[in-house]
Amino acid sequence: MSKPSPLPANVHLIDHPLVQHKLTLMRNKEASTNSFRRLLNELSSLMAYEVTRDMATQDVEIETPLETMTAKMIDGKKLVFVSILRAGNGILDGVLSVVPGARVGHIGLYRDPKTLEAVEYYFKMPKDMQERDVVVVDPMLATGNSASAAVTRLKQLKPKSIKFLCLLTCPEGIAAMHKAHPDVAIFTAAIDRELNDHGYILPGLGDAGDRIFGTQ
Ligand code: URA
Repeated sequence: MSKPSPLPANVHLIDHPLVQHKLTLMRNKEASTNSFRRLLNELSSLMAYEVTRDMATQDVEIETPLETMTAKMIDGKKLVFVSILRAGNGILDGVLSVVPGARVGHIGLYRDPKTLEAVEYYFKMPKDMQERDVVVVDPMLATGNSASAAVTRLKQLKPKSIKFLCLLTCPEGIAAMHKAHPDVAIFTAAIDRELNDHGYILPGLGDAGDRIFGTQ
């Protein structure tokens, strides 16, 4: 049996069986828009557990029906999920179901069809970003152009930390992201074989935005 190849530095593969099962259902070209969206929602909430694993907690004093105790709580407001439009929005409901107090930012970048470079058209973040931890969300880390452009832009606001959460990536996407931002940890459910000449991940799942919004 061949040994699994070691993960690139700063990449977290979320290989929980439930995550892998749902991802397989999503990859299937027969999955309807409705089930694709529902599965993405479920997957996003499962992946949110991993990406928030090291979130700070604080001790609070509470009263149970029987006695007083010191217990742990998070400060959800300190977390910002930043969606890269438009496919990133497909991840928001799932992650917010786990951290409902989190703030949300949006960044709009389109991929120039010729150069595959990212061009910004929208940017709206919560205030006081220096006090917040950021998780950038986009289902596909493909060329890495929009992901690294989004992170470059966010770094201007000096947040406390930045992580990147996606469903699928490929060696090219990881290399591009880590070349530009080696400090940003990537959380993904799979690392696929390669990128094709049109910037699509193979075997992949097709165009995530089209499959989420039914715009094929
Ligand atoms: N964006 C997608 O939606 N799919 C890919 O395979 C690559 C980028």
